[in-house]
Amino acid sequence: MKNFLVIGNPIQHSLSPKLHNFWINQNNIDAHYEKKQIEENEISKVIQEIKDDKLSGINITVPYKKSVIPFLEKLSETAKITQSVNTVYKKDNKIVGDNTDVAGFIKSLEDINLKGKSVLVLGAGGVVSSIIHGCYLLGVKNVFVSNRTQSKVDELIALFPEVKKINWGDNVLCDLIINSTSVGLKKDDKLNIDLSSYKTTIFYDVIYSPRTNFLAQGESMGNKTIDGKKMFVYQAQEAFKIWHNISPTVNQEVMELLI
Ligand code: ATR
Repeated sequence: MKNFLVIGNPIQHSLSPKLHNFWINQNNIDAHYEKKQIEENEISKVIQEIKDDKLSGINITVPYKKSVIPFLEKLSETAKITQSVNTVYKKDNKIVGDNTDVAGFIKSLEDINLKGKSVLVLGAGGVVSSIIHGCYLLGVKNVFVSNRTQSKVDELIALFPEVKKINWGDNVLCDLIINSTSVGLKKDDKLNIDLSSYKTTIFYDVIYSPRTNFLAQGESMGNKTIDGKKMFVYQAQEAFKIWHNISPTVNQEVMELLI
């Protein structure tokens, strides 16, 4: 039997095992997927388990998507560009790091045309380099990033010099606004910025559960809203394809696993 794992800290809320095990069963694959909370100094041990074929693959989540990189022997182009790895496996005896968040983000926006448009990203955490790269691949003209702590935006600008920094709380004309902060993970969380000027902007939240106040505000203004379920499910679909060489089904039943 093949073993898979998602590592992170915290990890108890991760729905990756539920989703992957559903697809594993659906496709009659002899495999099992678990979650494990680890400390940063345990990353090398987990990678060694892939080398030793005790694990066939791992997903990486917050906060290790960057810190795992020194332990890997090869990076996909997307992982290199974003300096972010969420999927690891062994190929030709080398430990490979890939990034399926970018593909997940792009697919989550498949019915929206962002060519020549402007996007404002709130937050500058681990997932944002994938969002920025995804935006440029979608033909977005202007990517603005605004974060409470400015130095983190500077790190992103070092990777993507075209990104424009916006002071926290300042408004900018944009077609899509993305909450990538952790504000909203707890039900009563609310961003301390005024969003009332974003009258025709699409509101997108990376958080998939619970429904955030950010999205509720977008909705109350009559705007289109997108929650993080699609990005989450499509990044998992891409990882599944890499590991099992099968593209698993995404349908209503699968989306409901995330509720
Ligand atoms: P990751 O591990 O994904 O990198 P993180 O670094 O904790 O996660 O990032 C969380 C994001 O949410 C950061 O952009 C953080 O802003 P700071 O860089 O200023 O810490 C943002 N964030 C968390 N709490 C916030 C709050 N109350 N208001 C605004 N932004 C917040």
